[in-house]
Amino acid sequence: MIIDGKKCSEEILENLKKEVSEYKERIGKIPGLAVIILGDNPASKIYVRSKIRACEKVGIYSKEIVLSDKISEAELIKEIEKLNSDKDINGILVQLPLPEHINEKKICDAISIRKDVDGFKQESLGKIVLGDEDGFISCTPQGIIYLIDQLNMDLNGKNAVVVGRSNIVGKPTASLLINKGATTTVCNSKTKDLTGILKRADIIVVAVGKAGFLKKDMVKEGAVVIDVGINREGGKICGDVDFEGVSQIASHITPVPGGVGPMTIAMLLKNTVKAFCKEELVNGK
Ligand code: GUN
Repeated sequence: MIIDGKKCSEEILENLKKEVSEYKERIGKIPGLAVIILGDNPASKIYVRSKIRACEKVGIYSKEIVLSDKISEAELIKEIEKLNSDKDINGILVQLPLPEHINEKKICDAISIRKDVDGFKQESLGKIVLGDEDGFISCTPQGIIYLIDQLNMDLNGKNAVVVGRSNIVGKPTASLLINKGATTTVCNSKTKDLTGILKRADIIVVAVGKAGFLKKDMVKEGAVVIDVGINREGGKICGDVDFEGVSQIASHITPVPGGVGPMTIAMLLKNTVKAFCKEELVNGK
């Protein structure tokens, strides 16, 4: 069965739209998201455009800030600090990757914990590990878990394998699976006997950035397969999973495009609304 991330994300956006319009009516305010982009990396521009367009669809105020890729780290931090104290902005996102002369960790940590809708601050990642639901869960891992939740599986006693150990996807996704009771293994492309480990998995999440990396003979019959890859091959977008082969034996599988990708944006807007609620809806207002 194909897990339809596009349809699921559209439902989430529809619900957020209703929620935002209720807030507008009730308290006369709407959530706001600021997106900072440096330079003109074509892939980053496409991602930012989709984020802004999704905000417009839902009725969230958005502010796109385009800066030179020559900007100094200190100047960029100043921009972030301005947004930290901007009352119209509830979420701040700095599109990654950043130029080499800028330290990504310093930039992510400059964003206020109240506005860290990407969940990339070390404090936010700490909250994910601890299962503290007050924090912001990074968008792609949150989208992955949302899709898995739709399957109504009890993860206790299940084996989950995450291939990829990035701070943005692999590590937070593994933490979320651990918190749901899954026996979770984190591998990477160089793990010994990767096939042996994968063959025991009930759930496989692949985020390695290699087209067609996961093949049919690496997957147990009936496993759930989540493909986080976005690879460009000859003008076509494809995932990290050999979809044609693996879909023959997986019980559920996400397609690329139309799987995890649209969920990431939906979760960004969900986090922005959450940030707004935390700020504005105190005392049951
Ligand atoms: N670059 C690629 N994916 C992401 C993301 O989810 N957030 C940010 N800020 N940058 C990215």
